[in-house]
Order: sequence, then structure tokens, then C-alpha cells
Amino acid sequence: MQILLINGPNLNMLGQREETIYGSNTLDSIIENLQEIAISKDVNLIAFQSNDESEIVTFIQKNSDSSDGIIINAGALTHYGLSLKDALLDASLPIIEVHISNVHSRESYRRDSVIATIAMGQIIGVGTKGYTYALEAMHEYLENN
Ligand code: DQA
Repeated sequence: MQILLINGPNLNMLGQREETIYGSNTLDSIIENLQEIAISKDVNLIAFQSNDESEIVTFIQKNSDSSDGIIINAGALTHYGLSLKDALLDASLPIIEVHISNVHSRESYRRDSVIATIAMGQIIGVGTKGYTYALEAMHEYLENN
């Protein structure tokens, strides 16, 4: 089983960026922890981060055929990234959308997600632990479907 873990713009700055909102864990430490869980579940987890929408689109195009599911925190692209949405649609894979913060309790523009209608589900506002829940949920879903 192969799962893509995609992080969008500014998520490379986790640990330094607005710590009261996003916490103190770095993206590297989050991925390290997820890789341990993935190994224990025999999952090949491919992690990718970019600040550039076109790079994320290309990553999805190159890797979707060989993958079974996508976990994505698209950062601000969540709210307007239509070429990202099209790439996700073309991938035809189950998607779990993750947000570290509660996007519904922040600025109104954060409430809209171009991914929401094509995602299997969303995990929002539970901090960086949301990535772990997403991996567990995706693994369980793929085992049963
Ligand atoms: C975020 C929420 C987005 O609105 C924001 O642009 C981010 C992070 C989150 O994880 O809470 O970059 O996706």
C-alpha cells in the first residue's frame, strides 16, 4: 500500500510559524513520526512539500498511478487552488484533507475548501496529531476497500 502525504505552501515553516496556532512540531519531526507508523503498518508513505502549486500538481501527476490514497494539507491552496483540485480529481484516489488549525474559527476565507467536496473526509483543528489520525483512517479505509 502506498500513500502520498502532501503539504502545501508555508508548511515547511512549521515549528517557527505562528506557534500558538500551529504548535511547535517541525514538518520533519511530524514526517519522521508518520514514517514510523507507516513502517509498522507496511505502508510506503511518500512525503512531499512545496510552496509552489505547479510542483504539487506535477508530483500528483507523477505518483498517483502507483499510489492508493492521498493525505493532503494544502495550506492556503486549500482555499483557491483550482489546478490542485483538478490534479486531485484526475488522480481518482481517496483523499483525506488535514488542517492543523480549526479553519472554521479563523478568518472567513479559510472556511472554503476547493478540496472538501472531493475528499473522503477532513480532519481539522486537532493540531499536528491530525496527520496521524489521517494516516490511521486512510490505512484502515484502504485495508477494507
Ligand atoms: C492550514 C490552514 C490554512 O488556512 C493555512 O493557509 C495554512 C495551514 C492548517 O493546517 O491549519 O497554511 O492548512
